[in-house]
Amino acid sequence: MAEEGLFAAKYLSKDVQAALPEGYKLRPLRREDYSAGFLDCLRVLTTVGDVTKEQWDERYDWIAKQDGSYFIVVIEDTTAKPPRVVGTGALLAERKFIHNLGSVGHIEDIAVAKDQQGKKLGLRLIQALDYIATQTGCYKTILDCSEANEGFYVKCGFRRAGLEMAHYH
Ligand code: ACO
Repeated sequence: MAEEGLFAAKYLSKDVQAALPEGYKLRPLRREDYSAGFLDCLRVLTTVGDVTKEQWDERYDWIAKQDGSYFIVVIEDTTAKPPRVVGTGALLAERKFIHNLGSVGHIEDIAVAKDQQGKKLGLRLIQALDYIATQTGCYKTILDCSEANEGFYVKCGFRRAGLEMAHYH
């Protein structure tokens, strides 16, 4: 039987699952997703590179150890032959000292496969990550995006706040 995945099922929103198209499943990332379209899905977002199975396993194990703070969800089309990952997103729950030991959710790496865009899967991913943020006690969730994606995040309930700065190494 396939393992449950990167994190416990209690973090998965039943409302989001219920709102998905028939045959689509919200679940945690699994080790087997290496060969189930996960990396191809991410390629709509940015460069992924050639990740070997050994490198994948090493990174997967590291993320799995960040118990309760690093969540990667996927949406799987179980009707595809073979079933494949068609969307993914990540939430990092950052525990702080400020705000009475508050936590902040960071949304990262949202990607929906090109041929699956426009079916509200992106919106469902954000809702799924917002649910995890609530479950882990985050008082807010933040993300960086391009101007081209601002409209999408506004539709997901986000508003412009602050200014992103970067220092590449
Ligand atoms: N600009 C304005 N509105 C948009 C955009 C956009 N770029 N994309 C979607 N929308 C709207 C839709 O029209 C829809 O509106 P409606 O409710 O009025 O019908 C609503 O937002 C929800 O759209 P979805 O169908 O859920 O969007 P989709 O599943 O296509 O996913 C996403 C959107 C994730 C941006 C997808 O196009 C994608 O994977 N793009 C490439 C990767 C990418 O740019 N990811 C985001 C990076 S930022 C980050 O990761 C934090």
